[in-house]
Amino acid sequence: MTSVTPLPVTRFLTGITTTGTPHLGNFVGSIRPSVAASRLPGVQSFYFLADYHALIKCDEPARIQRSTMEIAASWLAAGLDPERVVFYRQSDIPEIPELTWLLTCVTGKGVLNRAHAYKASVDKNEAAGNDPDADVTAGLFMYPVLMGADILMFKTHKVPVGRDQIQHIEMARDMAQRFNHLYGERLVLPEAVIEESVALLPGLDGRKMSKSYDNTIPLFAPREPLRKLIGSILTDSRAPGEPKEVEGSALFQIYQAFASAAETEALRKAYAEGISWGDAKQLLFERIDQEVAPMRERYHALMANPEEMERVLLAGARKARELATPFMAELRQAVGLRNLGAAATTGKAKAAKAAAPAFKQYREKDGQFYFKLLSADAKVLLQSKGFDSPREAAQTIAGLQKAGAGALSSLGDQVTLGDGAAEAEVIAALQHFSDS
Ligand code: TRP
Repeated sequence: MTSVTPLPVTRFLTGITTTGTPHLGNFVGSIRPSVAASRLPGVQSFYFLADYHALIKCDEPARIQRSTMEIAASWLAAGLDPERVVFYRQSDIPEIPELTWLLTCVTGKGVLNRAHAYKASVDKNEAAGNDPDADVTAGLFMYPVLMGADILMFKTHKVPVGRDQIQHIEMARDMAQRFNHLYGERLVLPEAVIEESVALLPGLDGRKMSKSYDNTIPLFAPREPLRKLIGSILTDSRAPGEPKEVEGSALFQIYQAFASAAETEALRKAYAEGISWGDAKQLLFERIDQEVAPMRERYHALMANPEEMERVLLAGARKARELATPFMAELRQAVGLRNLGAAATTGKAKAAKAAAPAFKQYREKDGQFYFKLLSADAKVLLQSKGFDSPREAAQTIAGLQKAGAGALSSLGDQVTLGDGAAEAEVIAALQHFSDS
């Protein structure tokens, strides 16, 4: 008897563009909260390395490869559990560029003209008196559509992002709405989740820690370079013994992001009592190192074993494609990219129906009543036990259709997984009924 995981209530999805080396700001602002969120019950999380997006900004192959490795290792070292979440590399999912094209065909060019990143490049060119499209690739222009495909492919409900990405999520919603209007309800409308509480970490010079300001502290810098970098955090000129302000102190804010409330209070007091900048930096260094050291060890072990990470990412891609492949087949069917033979014999309405998952009820020689859940391509996804009456079988089907895979946990003794069927396929097929 196979038990099937119930459908988690909410699907979260986040992508990380693979162009840089993770720094403490990425850790505090994105990695740490996401890993914590992925452990919540009732949540299914998708995390992926947005390497197609990286090509838009970066034409150095070695840097893309290196960054992909560093980011994957950072997430795993920080405790992301690839068994629990779907962790994959965007370019391992051929359905993503395929969906990108379908979405391209329902997206107004005028909408893309207004996308912030593209518009900023055009404005810059115009201000400099250049051709508006000088050095603007079609990749930059299409950035929001590729991102829309990332999100819509997995029927994402929530996308945790920074404020700069809200417009992209709204565009993905619009694409989904337009697509659904033309081809029937298929795509789930996503929502942005803005993490108000997530700390914006200041960098070495006090401005937001960011690669573009060149003021970052790499997350996994070894101990001595880490000490040196922390030593270079900008402070004022107050001498040891002079009371110091915590407001506007980058050093204090970084400490706060790593320390407990009690530790933070202790440092606040030490500031008032005139701790020297040297001692404060030493305190900060030891506090960060204490938190990062165990992860750093895991990070370096992973970096020394790229084959293992490749294996993890390919396993993640397999999980992702268990959802993406059947869904893409459904979407192809919906827009009319169809098997000609099937269309000729069944006509439009029936062809669409034949491509959807279906429950089949039947009676066996033993006199009992059974049902199967068949996939769009008629593979057995679920097989029921025998029921005494057709009504009982029908009620069980109705329960599955209504509650989706959530009902499966309580039905473990009434249905089993079909031979060769993956749980994710069952979840996707049941989703079809609860969505419609
Ligand atoms: N555009 C995002 C960034 O630069 C990365 C990204 C790509 C993404 N696809 C996504 C984020 C889908 C969330 C969902 O930060």
